[in-house]
Amino acid sequence: MAALAAALATAVSAYNNGMGERPPMGWQTWCSVGECGEDHCFDGQIRAMADTLVLSGMKDLGYDWVVLDDCWHPTRDNATAELVPYPRFFPDGMKPVIDYVHSLGLKFGLYTSVGDRTCHGGWSPGSFGHYERDARTFAAWGVDYVKIDYCGSHDSVEGHRNMSRALNATGRPMSYMLCRGPYQQQDHWGYAPGIAQGWRATGDHHDNFASVRQQVEAVRGKASWSGPFGWAYLDMMMTGGQGCKDQCVGPESDQGHCNWTKPEHCPGMSEEEYRTEASLYVVVSSPLMVGTDIRLMTPIMKELLLNKEAIAINQDYKAVPGDAMPSCHGSSQEAWVRRLSNGDSAVALTNWGNHTASLAVCLDAIGWTHGETAGARNVWARQSLGTFSRRFEAKVRAHDTLLLLLSRTGAAGSPENKVAVAM
Ligand code: GLA
Repeated sequence: MAALAAALATAVSAYNNGMGERPPMGWQTWCSVGECGEDHCFDGQIRAMADTLVLSGMKDLGYDWVVLDDCWHPTRDNATAELVPYPRFFPDGMKPVIDYVHSLGLKFGLYTSVGDRTCHGGWSPGSFGHYERDARTFAAWGVDYVKIDYCGSHDSVEGHRNMSRALNATGRPMSYMLCRGPYQQQDHWGYAPGIAQGWRATGDHHDNFASVRQQVEAVRGKASWSGPFGWAYLDMMMTGGQGCKDQCVGPESDQGHCNWTKPEHCPGMSEEEYRTEASLYVVVSSPLMVGTDIRLMTPIMKELLLNKEAIAINQDYKAVPGDAMPSCHGSSQEAWVRRLSNGDSAVALTNWGNHTASLAVCLDAIGWTHGETAGARNVWARQSLGTFSRRFEAKVRAHDTLLLLLSRTGAAGSPENKVAVAM
């Protein structure tokens, strides 16, 4: 409590409870078993995913969140009105699962809604009318993160605020993550930074390329509106592909059942498109919540999720998140660029078109301050591309992204422009 009070006293924003200094990274239910939305969550599944975060090395890279989406609770207890996890999915309740996740050095999140029902066909009760009670339940179970959706009757900004106060009043620091609400249309994300550690920038992300663009467009021109203790986030990543339809049987409701024992992916995007998704999430410093089944790490998942250099760009919390800008003066091409806290720049050159294209970036257009030369590195290929002067150009395949790290060269670099082929 004292730590919380101290954190609040030194807070820049109105609601800094010490959580969320960096964009959170982790795994989240919803798309990993069955198609997005069919994913029911199970005690064994959650433990297996937590184990995987550790065994795959993801935890050591910073992925330390396990978050349950709208899949865990059918009702309230008749006598106490406390939220009750599905007995058939969590036969021992939620606390033992949370304890297990904590025992691995990971943190745990749960989902609720600000209205009286959640969004998933209204199967589950939302927190309206029970903000204090639910906050106390979450605190008692050891929850560290609360995703709050905007569904059911009585969804309101006041509800968002009241739940924030209720969580604060428990004395347990919890990351409060808004998922949709009127703040999305407001300048500087409206009331969100004052009450939450994170807020979704737009609607749901789906496993297709148009959706990647929609996610990233939602933060265009808004880079400086988020930072430590308050991150705008793009919805969970689809890296490697959502689960498969035939993993689930029965109706798409709480009566259905998904077999989580065998991990599968049914990708909706190409490897190039997943590379674009990951590159842009990295550069705009979105939280990196993986929505797919990490127990089966395909080569593209390993390439994109386990790359330390990319993670370092994403997690450079002292730097302003990246934004779109013209990549060269007088050119119609643009790049998503992030100036890092050490003066380097991360540049995502995305080819949105349907054919291989030459994409360029010019140092003067992106505010490079270290002279006329820079060292270039292909982050995903983990490959140095040498030094270049003023302008860098590369061929990038359709829907792919070349994620570049530009660094100062020290001594003058090679004067000629380098041309490289992405990947
Ligand atoms: C909304 C949210 C999703 C997911 C579902 C759950 O659509 O935007 O992220 O949480 O609800 O029902």
